[in-house]
Amino acid sequence: MAYLCSSFISTYTENLHKIKLCVNGRYYEFLVKPNTTLRDLLREKIGLTSPKDMCHGVGACGSCTVILDGRPVLSCLTLAVDCDGRSVETAEGIAESAHPIFEAYIKYHTMQCGYCTPGFMVTAKALLDRNPNPSEEEIREALAGNICRCGTYPMHVIAVKEAAEKLKANAEDKGKGSK
Ligand code: FES
Ligand code: FES
Repeated sequence: MAYLCSSFISTYTENLHKIKLCVNGRYYEFLVKPNTTLRDLLREKIGLTSPKDMCHGVGACGSCTVILDGRPVLSCLTLAVDCDGRSVETAEGIAESAHPIFEAYIKYHTMQCGYCTPGFMVTAKALLDRNPNPSEEEIREALAGNICRCGTYPMHVIAVKEAAEKLKANAEDKGKGSK
């Protein structure tokens, strides 16, 4: 019995992987199981609850989207062990940084129940990072993987366009300031 227990414990421990992760600018170290998803790690170990689950984690709703090394990913389908040494940004981080997309999402009431909203906002922020002046079509295409049961779709396009305008104005102000 004692042998069985110690054997089980050592097997279990050996299966844990040490990973380092930068989340919203803060550094963490974790021991994770091979099958722990990034979504579960963020929610259960750091308490970041913005990555949601509207499809039972099968990659069909976009509500769990986070930014991993600059690209939007579905955190329900991303294994935590594959994130070792990488950078993650969540809706909480976007709110903390006072990015214009956050204000625009509030201003244009992009939510009803709000459950899908963090995933939309994260996807929109990733779009603006790679394309600061997206067309309406590009916004719709970028957000196509995010599902909203409440039907808030039109408001996201308006909010993303306003955030893009704000980013442009900020960049122009910065340019004037540096002259
Ligand atoms: S929880 Fe639905 S795509 Fe991840
Ligand atoms: S606001 Fe309710 S699911 Fe999108």
